[in-house]
Amino acid sequence: MLVDGPVPKHVQLRQALLTAIDGELSPGAMIPSERDLMAHHGVSRATVRAAIAGLVSDGRLAKVPGKGTVVTRPRVESQLHLASFTQDMRRRGHRPTTRLLSCVAESADETVAKALDLPADASVWRIERLRLADDEPMALETSWYPESLFPRLDAEDLESSLYATLESGYGVVITGAEQTVWTERADRAHARLLDTPAGAPLFVFDRVASSTERPVERTVSRYRGDRYQLSMSLHRGPSSQ
Ligand code: GLP
Repeated sequence: MLVDGPVPKHVQLRQALLTAIDGELSPGAMIPSERDLMAHHGVSRATVRAAIAGLVSDGRLAKVPGKGTVVTRPRVESQLHLASFTQDMRRRGHRPTTRLLSCVAESADETVAKALDLPADASVWRIERLRLADDEPMALETSWYPESLFPRLDAEDLESSLYATLESGYGVVITGAEQTVWTERADRAHARLLDTPAGAPLFVFDRVASSTERPVERTVSRYRGDRYQLSMSLHRGPSSQ
């Protein structure tokens, strides 16, 4: 019940909607119409709109053209750590699966050769995988590995964890990585594979992973911006004092 008092009505309504979102409304469900919310809570249209706008900007609701306002699915939250996709998803209670799109041996281009500290034209495996969480596309990954280090990588099960395979098959444990993150809009090909509209926002992670200082993998990962979020702990370091 909304009450007169110091807490504005739109804040109270927002809280009431949040309770419904966390309770009986499942992801994809429509919330009641503006008119119903006005009648049910005895508030103005402006109050309803302010409450909804706040929840849209928090990512809890989304406006779907021609449909209405729907409950979003909570994003998978990841901390910036050195996890594999498989570990990252499991840690968050999701079921990871992988679809292998391609695995070919090719000559390293300049960027890959530099990242992996290889001579120009060295042979590398290029592996493309679609990563899913709970059977829904989460990320597209293109990775390169030196063929000299992993001569039979193409014969491995590339639909399970590659970090686990590098460890069990080659004794290579990933111990560190350099990673750069940016965003981009999904082009048509990426959008189709990720089952998201063309132009949708993606997180891009460009990672060079090393095993005791030696670079062994470069991966460019594209994560769906609507399904993923990053959290990080920030600490005051010596340079900021
Ligand atoms: C993350 C990293 C990739 C890495 C992958 C390995 O997604 N960004 O660089 O290749 O994990 O995951 P998995 O061991 O599940 O194949």
